[in-house]
Amino acid sequence: MSATTAGGAFRFREIYEREPEGAWGAPGRVNLIGEHTDYNEGFVMPLALPHLCRVEAARRDDGVLRVHSSDQPGGVVELTLDGLAPVAEGFAGGWAAYPAGVAWSLRTAGHRVGGADLHFESTVPTGAGLSSSAALEVSTGLALDDLYGLGLDRPSLAEVCRRAENEFVGVPSGILDQMAAACCTEGHALYLDTRDLQRRQVPFDLALEGLRLLVVDTRVTHELGDGAYAERRRGCEAGAAALGVRALRDVPLDGLDEALGRIEDPVVRRYVHHVVTENDRVRQVIALLDAGETRAVGPVLTAGHRSLRDDFAVSCPELDLVVEVAVDRGALGARMTGGGFGGSAIVLLDEVLVDDVREALVLAFAEAGYAEPEVFEAVPSAGARRLTP
Ligand code: GLA
Repeated sequence: MSATTAGGAFRFREIYEREPEGAWGAPGRVNLIGEHTDYNEGFVMPLALPHLCRVEAARRDDGVLRVHSSDQPGGVVELTLDGLAPVAEGFAGGWAAYPAGVAWSLRTAGHRVGGADLHFESTVPTGAGLSSSAALEVSTGLALDDLYGLGLDRPSLAEVCRRAENEFVGVPSGILDQMAAACCTEGHALYLDTRDLQRRQVPFDLALEGLRLLVVDTRVTHELGDGAYAERRRGCEAGAAALGVRALRDVPLDGLDEALGRIEDPVVRRYVHHVVTENDRVRQVIALLDAGETRAVGPVLTAGHRSLRDDFAVSCPELDLVVEVAVDRGALGARMTGGGFGGSAIVLLDEVLVDDVREALVLAFAEAGYAEPEVFEAVPSAGARRLTP
């Protein structure tokens, strides 16, 4: 199985006994820097992975949405568009909440979307912090946009998908993952201001410099809906309210000490410290990349990990072990990526160290009694696109 095709021949015809009108895909992502900044209207810098959620689709004229996934048990889920209600109001279709939520979100925003048959196959690992949900949402959104001629631009597509996740599925995520899936381009990292969605494609060709970015999936599955993520978000909002700003993005680094002095709750203080310093780390990384000083990005990543571990408390022992072992073995830097509480870490290192660091990680995980981590290279890949015809 390659990274971009899953499970052999696509099965739309077999499942629905008709022809698909086309196939669309949206990728998973890693975030280079800027974690838990998106719902604070701050900065992020994701890159798309070659791993793709692929959907084959065809319109229906009866207002019925049928969804099927090779990666999910339970066969075809059949829904009526007019009857769709969010999970909190009783939707009981399991994973189908993601594609159904996108159709709901499009219709709620006033777009004329009719029924469809959708078949998904994905190579984006689930629960690994690599945004398999956003890949599912954005591939759905792009297929419906194309089939029904909606003409959405990419940020609007990402917004529709974020609303599906927040309001239909009920996960209070920011816009990082959907923007990454919708807007990343091959060979680039996406420098994104999540306040106004201004963005810049930053060339990110590590091979030119003899460097590599590894993804280490700890196999500790995370669940964003489990309350810890929402608690961080609430804490950040409490911090912004205490400081009288719209969002923590508005707290300048040189005013941080003074701001912290005005927050009573020690937990909220730590959250604010993380978010403000993390926004600054994004600026540091962009300045280093613009100056061609890619190697110097490493320590900034590691500093970001410490902040997520100590201030924001979203790491876990497996992620900490990846960072410790990788840096100990000579990597330039490493950090957890995504929401945390498990999932994946990234490691920036010299190409010559790849095998050594990979072996050291596998050994360290075995010695700690953890499941063997999955290690692969993050090659900056294309964002969502029509695949056929
Ligand atoms: C998850 C969320 C994103 C973002 C990250 C943390 O991936 O879906 O919106 O908040 O966590 O940076």
